[in-house]
Amino acid sequence: MRILVTDSYEAMSREAAKILAGQIWLWPDTVLGLATGSTPVGMYRELIRLHREEGLDFSQVTSFNLDEYVGLGPEDDQSYQAFMHAHLFDQVNIDPARTHVPNGKAEDIEGECDRYEKAIGEAGGIDLQVLGIGRNAHIGFNEPDDHFARQTHRVALKESTIRANSRFFEREADVPRYAISMGIGTILKARRILLLANGREKAQAVYDAVLGDITPEHPASILQFHPQAMLLLDREAASLLPERSKV
Ligand code: GLP
Repeated sequence: MRILVTDSYEAMSREAAKILAGQIWLWPDTVLGLATGSTPVGMYRELIRLHREEGLDFSQVTSFNLDEYVGLGPEDDQSYQAFMHAHLFDQVNIDPARTHVPNGKAEDIEGECDRYEKAIGEAGGIDLQVLGIGRNAHIGFNEPDDHFARQTHRVALKESTIRANSRFFEREADVPRYAISMGIGTILKARRILLLANGREKAQAVYDAVLGDITPEHPASILQFHPQAMLLLDREAASLLPERSKV
């Protein structure tokens, strides 16, 4: 894993946007895997700036989001679909037909998981996957478990994740208990992976991902096996890592 430590959230976001922009400039029809949560918001802001001021062109880009809450759709403010529209899709020239987020309102959730996994394959697979990380080292919504999920699947969210994500909802009781998430296998198939983490509360998860045993108890630890995985951190998220592991 390559580990790059930046001075601040803003610097981390700028570096992340540069990596995505470079990918789009070199391969305009690239397939991106995108993430939600507060971590990538600054990166999206910078990508919008690059689109407006430097002409970064999203018209041929295809995107697949990592996950969505079961029961929420684009009309729900807290859905990841709505998040992506607000923070990126509606502010750049991406073709809406090329953006994909799992359908949390599908009647047949298992069928939706299979359809989503297939759609990624039909698009040629993901070239560059962006990830955040949960405090328990979850990626996407792949929670600590006794096995690594291979494919897009339905997940029961852990209490700790429900609590952490309740800050986006009016009440904790409103947080959906289930989600659709790309599997660890889906994520590992991406050609390149870029994981972002900032803040002291992510330091232990980052440590476990980088230096811990590879175990489904710490889902992000599987990234140690990926040949092209990069961690882009701020100083606080990197604070438990020994100096020698940083670039
Ligand atoms: C959610 C998302 C993850 C995200 C994580 C961390 O659970 N499903 O994709 O990485 O939260 O979120 P944040 O960036 O807000 O800390």
